[in-house]
Amino acid sequence: MRLHSTVIALLTGAQLSNAAEKPYSTWLTDSVISYNIVPKSRWYTEATFYYGVEAVHNHTSSPAYLSYLTSQIDPILTPNGSFASWDFNDHQLDNIRIGSPLLYLYTQTSNVRYRKAIDFLHDRLLNHQKRTPTGGFWHKDPKYPNQMWLDGLFMAGPFSAAYAALFDPKNMTLWDDILLQFQLIEDHCRNTTKGNNMLKHGYDESFKAVWADPVTGASPLVWIRAQGWYFMALIDVLEWFPSSHEGYKLITKWFRDLAKAVKREQDESGGWWLVMDEQYKGKKGNYIESSGTAMYTYGVLKGIRKGVLKEGDYLGVAEKAYNFMTERFVARNGTGGGINWEGTVRVGSLDGKGDYEYYIGINKVENDLKGVGPFILASVEWERHQRKTVHET
Ligand SMILES: *[C@@H]1O[C@H](CO)[C@@H](O)[C@H](O)[C@H]1NC(C)=O
Ligand SMILES: *[C@@H]1O[C@H](CO)[C@@H](O)[C@H](O)[C@H]1NC(C)=O
Ligand SMILES: *[C@@H]1O[C@H](CO)[C@@H](O)[C@H](O)[C@H]1NC(C)=O
Ligand SMILES: *[C@@H]1O[C@H](CO)[C@@H](O)[C@H](O)[C@H]1NC(C)=O
Ligand SMILES: *[C@@H]1O[C@H](CO)[C@@H](O)[C@H](O)[C@H]1NC(C)=O
Repeated sequence: MRLHSTVIALLTGAQLSNAAEKPYSTWLTDSVISYNIVPKSRWYTEATFYYGVEAVHNHTSSPAYLSYLTSQIDPILTPNGSFASWDFNDHQLDNIRIGSPLLYLYTQTSNVRYRKAIDFLHDRLLNHQKRTPTGGFWHKDPKYPNQMWLDGLFMAGPFSAAYAALFDPKNMTLWDDILLQFQLIEDHCRNTTKGNNMLKHGYDESFKAVWADPVTGASPLVWIRAQGWYFMALIDVLEWFPSSHEGYKLITKWFRDLAKAVKREQDESGGWWLVMDEQYKGKKGNYIESSGTAMYTYGVLKGIRKGVLKEGDYLGVAEKAYNFMTERFVARNGTGGGINWEGTVRVGSLDGKGDYEYYIGINKVENDLKGVGPFILASVEWERHQRKTVHET
């Protein structure tokens, strides 16, 4: 928060600033709600914000946040639980992300309308989404045939895992299939050379895309947000995965391996670069991007809370990142008492060449929900951690 930076520097860091001000989780949530910038849409951008609101509701138990979610989501459903608008020719994993807030609303309210919409989405995914020859969901049909992108693992992974855990936990076919999606990404996108451990944005199993690597099929670069979605997907799926399934150990390992890279790649400012490959760090046009930075912070904090990462090894990473974000990406919205979230890149796709010039050429957007949601999630984790620390000492 720029206005307070001098004061904060004189005090001892974020704990005091948080105690003196509203917690950022509710502050940014309330601000964004008050700006009326969230359309009543089932798109993943809004769904990413709703995920933050879920966490705030879970954390505060304030019924206003649940009412907000129902007021946004009810209008996208018909009274019988169908989606008010659904394009049956449009098959993309981005359409599935709304399943997560629907699951949250269903567990909170037991309203069968939500259950119907959830079952509809699950059926669309399992029975209508095309797959690569080895069983991976296409990111988007017909536009991106035989391609898997890291983004898609966040769009459909946690939903599928929560669905299986809540409604069909003994069905190993479901668990095996969820694991397979991650396994394919690992096999094609992860760079395991010399412990690099980062993942390229996506791969094409048919090798037809202009960017496809002739050996792995992978795209050329590590894009902060794609890898951020993936980092969140790993830790979120782990929350639901049965620990007796072989996937539990694998997902834990993949998450820890990526966490190592996240720690290593953290810039001295506290954030992470838009294009993360070694040769582009600090290069002209590259910058520290806010949505991805928030995603890594959330993932690290949740990994610590879940006991998957050692606090002694990772808390410093999260603390540095969190303080940096509140300093750099949180700004006052005029004089009204609200705050803005800055510095989130609008989009990143594998539609073109997927090269450096493409990624750095996309503009940044204020209050972009793809950054707002992850920052709220990171804030809830941070505030939980602070509260726990206070209670323990
Ligand atoms: C909700 O809170 C419980 C208990 O504090 C926690 O275990 C769970 O992970 C939280 N869920 C979400 C979606 O944040
Ligand atoms: C649910 O409502 C929609 C639109 O209101 C309608 O098209 C659909 O047939 C209904 N489905 C069922 C199972 O009643
Ligand atoms: C497991 O789930 C799949 C997909 O919903 C279903 O087709 C299959 O019948 C289920 N298997 C069992 C044993 O229930
Ligand atoms: C994989 O990682 C190694 C070690 O960091 C690096 O030298 C190499 O360029 C990376 N490969 C790709 C395709 O990025
Ligand atoms: C406050 O936020 C809204 C919504 O993003 C935006 O349109 C407006 O420009 C912001 N105002 C200031 C002064 O930052």
